[in-house]
Amino acid sequence: MAQSVEINGKRLEESLRIMGRIGFVSDEQGISRLALGEAAREARELFVSWLEEENLEVRIDPIGNIFGIRPGRRDGDPVIAGSHLDTVHEGGAFDGALGVLAGLEVIRSLNEGKIETEHPVAVAAFTNEEGVRFQPDMMGSMVMAGKLPLEEALAARDDDGRTVGEELERIGFRGSDSVTPKAYLELHIEQGPVLEDEEKEIGIVEGIQGIAWWRCHFRGKAGHAGTTPIPLRRDALLGAADLCCRIRELAVELGENTVATMGRLAPEPDMVNVIPSRARCTVDMRQYDPELYEEGQKEVRQLVEEIANTHGLEAELEQMADARPVRFPPEVVEMVERHAQERGYSALRLPSGAGHDAQFMHYLCPTAMIFVPSIGGVSHTPVERTSYTDTARGCQVLCDSIVELARGA
Ligand code: HGY
Ligand code: MN
Ligand code: MN
Repeated sequence: MAQSVEINGKRLEESLRIMGRIGFVSDEQGISRLALGEAAREARELFVSWLEEENLEVRIDPIGNIFGIRPGRRDGDPVIAGSHLDTVHEGGAFDGALGVLAGLEVIRSLNEGKIETEHPVAVAAFTNEEGVRFQPDMMGSMVMAGKLPLEEALAARDDDGRTVGEELERIGFRGSDSVTPKAYLELHIEQGPVLEDEEKEIGIVEGIQGIAWWRCHFRGKAGHAGTTPIPLRRDALLGAADLCCRIRELAVELGENTVATMGRLAPEPDMVNVIPSRARCTVDMRQYDPELYEEGQKEVRQLVEEIANTHGLEAELEQMADARPVRFPPEVVEMVERHAQERGYSALRLPSGAGHDAQFMHYLCPTAMIFVPSIGGVSHTPVERTSYTDTARGCQVLCDSIVELARGA
């Protein structure tokens, strides 16, 4: 029986608390560590310093993904545990950071126990998983998987016109290294209510639903709010508002847990007594079933056309993200499940509603994910919480799985 490696849950908790202070605004406003901004730079530099403390080989690739590699008896591709350090605006301390710092804890525990693995083991922090400042989301892992051309990613602009490439240069994380993964595991908070509702300690993630994002720009005609008769109006905001309601109806009609969200809406000229001539908005549609996912995308495109005709508007619809639904290899899912059971943790199989870097690492190597419960099923808000007992349990399952994969099994 191979020697088991025990992780140090208190040390992981301490690392999470320290990392959680970077970008922290207030209890009400949570953490803002948007990709490639000042707080993200600080988080990256802290992470690299922790990698150096463990004497890992640090590699930075052309899209700024960070890897810390621990050698194995054999050279070759590493087994990687990773996630992301960027957050949404007003986010929490666990989304992404848990997966990165749990991967680091696995390596710290291997070093402490002076345990040799057959294959190298690495920890990764991917660039711009959230896609809030720059689209698409999962950008770093998407480029690494060859699903987004590097030049296109580097040219992505934020609301102020700054590009990913400029920001990577500015913070000193535009690298030229590369890493080929042997296998990839990601520990993440569930970000939903299922594990808590079912009173289960570990989520065995079977796959991730598809994510389609669009930005939509409706153009109509400005006019005086008091003198323009209703039949003569071409109200761009009315079109966007109509789309917001219709995507909700579409999600209900498609059923099977389809979700659709309009997260951003900006009318112009944005004055109380002027009919909006322009309205920019976003659509986020998600579905786990591949056919329904394609169907949903087609319906969104048709909806925009129909609404533009109804309200006499022009509409420009630009797709920003199309992350297809993925199902992880059953043998990797079963291995993770076995380790959770061997540790005596209650476990439940489920799909992921949120997108993750594993969605793209899946195209490069055997991949799976481990979830731990989100208190109140809430995430992407300042009240995102997971107990440190659960973070330790998740990290232990991650460690046991990484050790097995790195043992050369
Ligand atoms: O949107 C997502 O699901 C991920 O947090 N980027
Ligand atoms: Mn995440
Ligand atoms: Mn997130």
